[in-house]
Amino acid sequence: MTRVLRSVVTGVGGYLPDEIVTNDDLAKVVDTSDEWIVERTGIRTRRRAAPDQAVSDLAVEAAKRALAAAGRTPADIDLIIVATTTPDLTFPATATIVQRKLGAPIGIAFDVQAVCSGFVYALSVADGFVTRGRSRCCLVIGAETMTRLMDWTDRGTCVLFGDGAGAVVLEPQGGEGTIVDRGLLGFALRADGTKQDLLYVDGGPSTNGQVGKLRMQGNQVFRHAVVNISEAVTAAAADAGVEVSSVDWFIPHQANQRILEGVARRLGIDEKKVVTTVGEHANTSAASIPLAMAQAVEDGRIKPGQLLLLEAMGGGLTWGACVLRL
Ligand code: ACO
Repeated sequence: MTRVLRSVVTGVGGYLPDEIVTNDDLAKVVDTSDEWIVERTGIRTRRRAAPDQAVSDLAVEAAKRALAAAGRTPADIDLIIVATTTPDLTFPATATIVQRKLGAPIGIAFDVQAVCSGFVYALSVADGFVTRGRSRCCLVIGAETMTRLMDWTDRGTCVLFGDGAGAVVLEPQGGEGTIVDRGLLGFALRADGTKQDLLYVDGGPSTNGQVGKLRMQGNQVFRHAVVNISEAVTAAAADAGVEVSSVDWFIPHQANQRILEGVARRLGIDEKKVVTTVGEHANTSAASIPLAMAQAVEDGRIKPGQLLLLEAMGGGLTWGACVLRL
């Protein structure tokens, strides 16, 4: 008997732009080396969007793949949420541009801005619509062109980020209200605006009228990351009613290999359960979790029915985690 409505991920898709930028490529631009970047971050390559590719173009490609995986078409979509910190335009929302490019019918479309935590925040917002019966077929997309926010004279930041997009289709399904249900089972979302100065972009329409460049006190962000993420993971697992140890796959925001390892160590998570793409994708902000999820679903590691734990931290500071059964 159906007791609750759950929002279930019925399709996942990822898209990476064609151009691969290596650490050696960056060593021609700033005073850095492949050795330094790999040792401190685990990053070897990142993708860069073509000059004529906007973030909506990346989002549309990921959305098409997620829809195909779900056996749905754009005509089915009634809600689009795009998590991005690099929108096509200040307005309208990139979600409405994605809606137009996909040819999706009139429905609800808006963006969520929580930087690298954007995908986890957007999933939680979508869950509210789907589990109240207000969306039958929802696209949640994380899409970024982070390379457009880089200061290419700042070696402490420009080596860390890349471009890409990932998407999931969410649909309502009845559940028993227990941890064996498919769907989103628990969340923990956090923000601490007093830490804004650690990671931000120094431009905006209501301040200096510029797009701005990303500024970061990397070692300070690093200090907060492991503690904050670990707390949110524990809280999301408690919200879902599951043990962290019972999770099949951890899909972290891909910021830095050392942060991923630090969180896994602190929580006693077997590193074989951690999906890691930071080496090839670098930090794609809100896109990194759905991109990693798409990769691990496509290569057969993640299987239907498995329990997944997603986590992220980013500018704000914002951070959070989510438990779902595929
Ligand atoms: N190549 C060579 N040297 C570098 C580079 C580089 N690319 N970048 C910095 N350095 C130098 C610094 O100039 C400094 O040199 P100095 O001692 O002569 O002054 C030295 O390396 C140490 O700098 P730190 O910043 O202390 O280096 P750290 O070990 O902390 O590594 C890093 C820097 C990789 C940025 C690390 O702090 C980090 O990963 N922090 C987390 C950042 C992050 O993941 N942010 C994103 C999370 S939130 C989000 O996703 C938006």
